[in-house]
Amino acid sequence: MPATVVRHQDNLTTRRLIAERTPGHSLPAPFYTSDEIFDLDLDAIFGRHWIFVASEAEIREPGDYVTVEFGKTSLLVIRDDDENVQVLHNVCRHRGARILTPGSGSVGNLVCGYHQWTYKPDGTLIWAASAADDFDTSCHNLRKVAFRSIAGLIYVNLSDEPNDDIDEVASIVEPYFEQHQLKRAKVAKQIDLIELGNWKLTMENNRECYHCDMHPELGCTYFITWGYPEDAIPPHLQETHERYLSAEAELERKCVERNLAFKGIEELDTRTMGFRVQREALDGEGESYSMTGAKLVNKLLGDFDDAKLGRLSMHTQPNFWCHFMADHAITFAVLPIAPGRTLVRTTWLVHEDAVEGVDYNVDDLTYVWRETNAQDAAFVELAQIGVTDPAYIPGPYVPSEYQVDAFCNWYIDKLNTHLDAEAAE
Ligand code: FES
Ligand SMILES: [Fe+2]
Repeated sequence: MPATVVRHQDNLTTRRLIAERTPGHSLPAPFYTSDEIFDLDLDAIFGRHWIFVASEAEIREPGDYVTVEFGKTSLLVIRDDDENVQVLHNVCRHRGARILTPGSGSVGNLVCGYHQWTYKPDGTLIWAASAADDFDTSCHNLRKVAFRSIAGLIYVNLSDEPNDDIDEVASIVEPYFEQHQLKRAKVAKQIDLIELGNWKLTMENNRECYHCDMHPELGCTYFITWGYPEDAIPPHLQETHERYLSAEAELERKCVERNLAFKGIEELDTRTMGFRVQREALDGEGESYSMTGAKLVNKLLGDFDDAKLGRLSMHTQPNFWCHFMADHAITFAVLPIAPGRTLVRTTWLVHEDAVEGVDYNVDDLTYVWRETNAQDAAFVELAQIGVTDPAYIPGPYVPSEYQVDAFCNWYIDKLNTHLDAEAAE
C-alpha cells in the first residue's frame, strides 16, 4: 500500500478518535498508548510547535553544549565561538552518524566519531579527510534548527515555517523574568527522570493541584489551593486559602513597589503558543521551595536584595513549566521518548557567583522537587497502567482541573490543524 494511503487511513482513525473525545474528560486511551498517535504527536506537535529545550545558563561558555532528545530527534544546543547560541541537528553530514552522545559538556570542535568530519560549534564543516578535489565543505554544514530565546529560555521549532506567535508571547512574558536575570545564572544541578507514562499524562499531571495533598514536601510552601475556583475551596483547605489571600496581598504590595510583574495571564488554549504566567506567594517564610519556606541560596538572583518574592511560574504548551524565586530558578522540560516513556529534565539555577557549599547546598536546594518529581512520576505511571487497561473509560475533570482540560483542548486543536493541512496537500 502506498505511504499516502496508509497515512490517509491513519488520519481517518485519528479523526474518529478526536470525534470520540468529550471535552471536560480525559482523552480516549489510544492518545496515551498507541504508536501511531505517538508518531503523530512527534510530527504535529513536537515537529511544528515551540519546544523548550534548555536555558542559556546551561551553555555559558563557547563550546558548552547540551543534547536534547525527543522521539528520533537529537539536537545540540551549543554556544559557538562568538558566544552565540546555536541549535543544530546532531546528525553528521557525511553518512549521518550521531556526533555527540546524549549528555552535556564542553567541546573545542564537534568531531564525528566515525570518519572524523569536524565542525565548528556553529555547525560549519571545517575538515573532511581525503575528500574529492571538488568537494565543497560549505555545502555540508550541520543543519540548523530555528530557535528563540525568551529571557534566556531557549525554544526550538523544527518546522520549515515556524509560527511567529512566540514573538508576541515573548513580549508579554519577558517583563516578568527581567529582574531574575537568567543570563547571569548557572546550573546548580540537573536531573533527568524517566516517567513510565505518555508525555501528555506528565503535562496533565502538572496542570492540576487536585492531587497536591499527596505532596507533603511541596505543600510546605506551595499553596495547594492552586487551581481551585474561589467558591470551591474544599473545607479542609479553608485555612490555607486565608493564608494565601494574606500572603498574596503582601506580595502584590511588594511587586508594585519593586516594579515586578505579577498579574496572572492565562491563554492556555486560545492561541498557537498557549501559555500561562503569574507571580504568586509561597507559604511559610514565603521565600523558596524549602521545608520552611526560607531561602536556600544566600546569593540571590540578579540584583535582588529581598528573598521574599514568591514564585514566578510560567507554563508553555506543549512541554514546559518553571518556577523562578528570588534565590533560585527551576526549569522543567518534558521530552517524549516512547508512547509510555517520557523524560522530565529538571534544572536548578542559581546566581553565577553563588558558591556551592558556601551559599547553597545541592541536596537541600533540590530536596523538595526531587521528592515531588518522584511522587508525580509514580502518579503518571499509575495513570499509564490504568489507561492501558481495556476497562478504561475517559473520566470527568473536576473544576480545579480546568487547566488539564485546556491542555487537551490545545492539543486536540493542534492535531486537527495538522490533519486539515495534510488533507489539503
Ligand atoms: S558519518 Fe560522520 S564522518 Fe562519516
Ligand atoms: Fe504533582
